[in-house]
Amino acid sequence: MLRREGLSKLTGQERYVDDLPLEDFLWGATVRSPAPRGRISNIVFGDGVDWSEFVIVDHTDIPGRNAVYLMEYDQPALAPGYVRHVHEPVLLLAHPSREVARRALREVQVIVDVDPPALDFRSLPSPDLIQYGEDNVLKRLSIQKGDVERALAESPIVVEGVYETGAQEHVYLETQGMLAYLDDDVLVIKGSMQCPYYVVKALKPALNRSEEEIRVIQTPTGGGFGGKEEFPSMVALHAGLLALKSRVPVKLIYDRTEDMVATTKRHPSQIRHRTGVDENGHLIAQEIEVVMDGGAYVTLTPVVLSRAIIHAAGLYHCDNVRILGRAMFTNSVPYGAFRGFGNPQAHFAVERHMDVIADRLRMDPVELRRINMIRDGQTTATGQVIGDGVDRLQIVDRALALSNYERRRREHWLRNSEHRYLRRGIGMSAFYHGAGFTGSGEVMLDSRLHVEGHPDGKVQVLCASTEMGQGQITIFIQLAADRLGYDPAEISIAEPDTHRVPDSGPTVGSRTAMVVGRLVERACDDLCRQAGAARGAPVKDAIIAWHSAHPGERLLGKARYEPPPGIEWDEENYLGDAYGAFGWAAHVAEVEVDLRTYGVRVLDFVSVQDVGTVLNETLARGQVQGGVAQGISWALLEECVWKDGAMQNGQLTNYIIPTSGDLPPIRVEFVEFPYEHGAQGAKGVGELPLVGAAPAVLNAVAAATGRQPTEIPLTPERLMALLGNGDR
Ligand code: MOS
Repeated sequence: MLRREGLSKLTGQERYVDDLPLEDFLWGATVRSPAPRGRISNIVFGDGVDWSEFVIVDHTDIPGRNAVYLMEYDQPALAPGYVRHVHEPVLLLAHPSREVARRALREVQVIVDVDPPALDFRSLPSPDLIQYGEDNVLKRLSIQKGDVERALAESPIVVEGVYETGAQEHVYLETQGMLAYLDDDVLVIKGSMQCPYYVVKALKPALNRSEEEIRVIQTPTGGGFGGKEEFPSMVALHAGLLALKSRVPVKLIYDRTEDMVATTKRHPSQIRHRTGVDENGHLIAQEIEVVMDGGAYVTLTPVVLSRAIIHAAGLYHCDNVRILGRAMFTNSVPYGAFRGFGNPQAHFAVERHMDVIADRLRMDPVELRRINMIRDGQTTATGQVIGDGVDRLQIVDRALALSNYERRRREHWLRNSEHRYLRRGIGMSAFYHGAGFTGSGEVMLDSRLHVEGHPDGKVQVLCASTEMGQGQITIFIQLAADRLGYDPAEISIAEPDTHRVPDSGPTVGSRTAMVVGRLVERACDDLCRQAGAARGAPVKDAIIAWHSAHPGERLLGKARYEPPPGIEWDEENYLGDAYGAFGWAAHVAEVEVDLRTYGVRVLDFVSVQDVGTVLNETLARGQVQGGVAQGISWALLEECVWKDGAMQNGQLTNYIIPTSGDLPPIRVEFVEFPYEHGAQGAKGVGELPLVGAAPAVLNAVAAATGRQPTEIPLTPERLMALLGNGDR
């Protein structure tokens, strides 16, 4: 099936929030902190602007709790006198002219009595830097399996490594934006977002309004990648506050630089591995410490840390594992959700470390993976018994075959000894990703979805899941059409409007196709029952007949989440079934390193993925290619440059992301092992491909150069430092 909204996007007819018609409205703008930490001693309004034309909002205008609520109430909507990061919102302005509003931003001076900022998450804070609990630790989590002390002491070989990853900006095509207006007593919010009900959840306590008094509508959204998971609540709250004070519609759209410097990013990490192995490469013990930069507020950091530690030991079996995780408070822009939720950081470390171990043992890195890779009946670090029937070795073998791995390695050896300055290498990674919310998360979400049969026989799916470019609309139409025996043209998806659609949970965590898609199927079954459709008879006729018998009534098929049987998770001890299903995959990357420029070019990339049943191959392939591109880019190019807690390179001229010309061909193949509780057997597809891309690229660089890079982004500067200056 073709993408339902594809043509309107391709032809530029789709209307994003900034394109929506709106009359007599004000442009919002956000005054931000210039300092990473301190007390606001004064706010000076310059005389270059006629301030009487402006609506101005500060923290005293917030009717309820001054917080952007999701997990904690710690992050203020507007700083109440003390700031904890550069670009923290302090004041809101609104004016009929966008130009004047922007100019006014430069005329406001926020004066801060600066306190020393905590900016390095890797070291424990000195007393004057402590601002959160006793030690600035936002969250601590751990996993224990077996006896790591003893096993490490008894291991003939212990290999250590420290791996670091940097921040990453989402760079969705459409920047953050919202509009807000009053419709009688109802505050209407429209904008770019992944999770309409998260916005409702944040607005309720801050604005002291009930769900009936807040209506949130997602507008067509130009990319999310996690960046529109929690942050849009802040933008919505700001637009809402301005609209409530001015009683006039307000539009608040970030420009690219504001978006880049002020919104959440991927958590930087430092991960330490100590691994005990025997001479044949069998894993005896894995001791892992995961440290993350949480930034100035909690946001979703506990969830990101959780996913990181759960996946930190990789897809291997080991009897003795200890994983300690901590996320640190710092006076940096808050880090938040980003595609993969901590798992890309975890896998960068463990999959790089596997190659380091192989190098120490003088072993083939593929062979080391092969002998340790988890088999059905064995357990993960949390003690989850894997028994999904997936042939993980087949996935690896297929990736090796498609990339001509063995032949390329031999060719590289010959070529590298002959060429003066070019070095080629090939590297791989094997990895996995849990789909859906962790542990009992899906049960707590209690997702609901409706499918409505209309009098003309047409059908509409009502849910809060959102399209952000990944294909949710198309997939849901396809699932409903298959289930009901319908022509897809007669099925539509309702606009995600919290006054019209039930809460089917957030569009995050690779859960939409698998978990919510299953609700589409079950709601379709319920619709058939409600309509009294006889087995095998056309459902459309039954829907039309039902409406003739019940004029003026609504015909709704309903579904509510039910957990698959046998899932047990001990949240207290981090033990048991962390996820109902895992996607499994292998990447192979081939690179060329130029010893004159220290540039790394990725020449070829192969990805073999088990995402369960592939629902729509074009869309799934797009997810994999996009995830790989974002992973390669994180590995080699994307560097946030920081100075005193502020991002210095908030432009796409110096925060570099790849164009299509910078990327290799990304060759994708699916190996399908259906999951019986996912829609048509689907598992998650959104995050998995990003997870293993960076280690595959760096493993290839290690093969090319004979050195072991441990930090990303591996910029030419870092590679030069690693290789030394001489002509190698
Ligand atoms: Mo998210 S990081 O959009 O699950």
